Amino acid sequence: MLTPMRWTQEGLYLLDQRLLPRHEQWNLCETPEEAAEAIRDMVVRGAPALGLTAAYGMALAARQLANEEACHSENSDSHRDRDPLDRHSYMDRIFEAATMLTDSRPTAVNLSWAVKQQLEVAAQTVGTGGGVGDLYGALIDKAQKMHEEDILTNRSIGRHGAALLRDGDRILTHCNAGALATGGYGTALGVIRFAHDAGMNVQAYATETRPYLQGARLTAWELTRDGIPVTLIVDGAAGMLMQRGDIDAVVVGADRVAANGDTANKIGTYQLALAARENSVPFYVAAPTSTLDLDTPYGSGVEVEKRDPAEITQFMGEQTAPDMVRAVNFAFDITPAELITGVITENGLAEAPLLESLERMIRVNKPHGGDSGA
Ligand code: MRU
Repeated sequence: MLTPMRWTQEGLYLLDQRLLPRHEQWNLCETPEEAAEAIRDMVVRGAPALGLTAAYGMALAARQLANEEACHSENSDSHRDRDPLDRHSYMDRIFEAATMLTDSRPTAVNLSWAVKQQLEVAAQTVGTGGGVGDLYGALIDKAQKMHEEDILTNRSIGRHGAALLRDGDRILTHCNAGALATGGYGTALGVIRFAHDAGMNVQAYATETRPYLQGARLTAWELTRDGIPVTLIVDGAAGMLMQRGDIDAVVVGADRVAANGDTANKIGTYQLALAARENSVPFYVAAPTSTLDLDTPYGSGVEVEKRDPAEITQFMGEQTAPDMVRAVNFAFDITPAELITGVITENGLAEAPLLESLERMIRVNKPHGGDSGA
């Protein structure tokens, strides 16, 4: 199965998504700083994949401490000189790593969700007298469990989402909410993948997703790789295709879903939702409950990342706009809840009123909705 990350004895290997589809290169992260840098620089992207990278990043922080302690003991002449790192100083270092990883990108709530879980594991391990070696063991264990769990979660999202589709459906998706954006399988693409694997005759339409081209480079790559029919379109063509009756449903991912259902996702999602409403096309958000942020009441409370304007004034390193032009590069937008037909989670479909149904999805907390996979 396609996964954007692999844990080995050396550390965390990330598939460099900046180079796809032309090169498949795996970059090694050995420290939490390298994991945070990989997130900032888009080596890895997609909300659930960011959360998992942060979870592994926390384990890398503990490994660093364990190595330092081992070094320190080796350099001490006698047993009497051995002074293991004291608990407060190593928890301070764990908190520093937590802040750095959480702040590496602002919009996807999965980062703070994953880091918070790792901090709970750390507090529990240290609170019961564990040393840095135990801490490393507990954090890497948890990261690997979260990775496995994410794949099962996505299969459940796929199953619930596929139940909403009909044979022959043409599904429009935006950006990449696939295996590459998660631990594996994908959320929005998980829905299409599940339907395809179940023998349904479905096909995807992928927007190219300017300026980073996650649709053209990543979605088109992973779907063609798996033999799932996909047609690539420019972002501006989506409205026209819906108007012509060529699209039966829109399914997108999410970076954060506020308590009322307002959804932050890749820039351009809001326009798709407007066009879908105008043309009576159902508009679904596919997201794990880890992307639901009940502490943020409305979408207006979500920080929308602004990226370097050079991403839009240049193309593949070539200047394409006049040197002096002003450009603004919002990476995400907020789709109001009233434009969303439903949010497909691993625990089922949340429908209007989303305020109540989303809360129910979290409360259910049924592991994988009882699903054993496709
Ligand atoms: O900037 P990116 O590539 O990280 O943006 C990704 C998206 O907007 C995805 O749709 C979202 O994270 C969901 S991924 C399952």
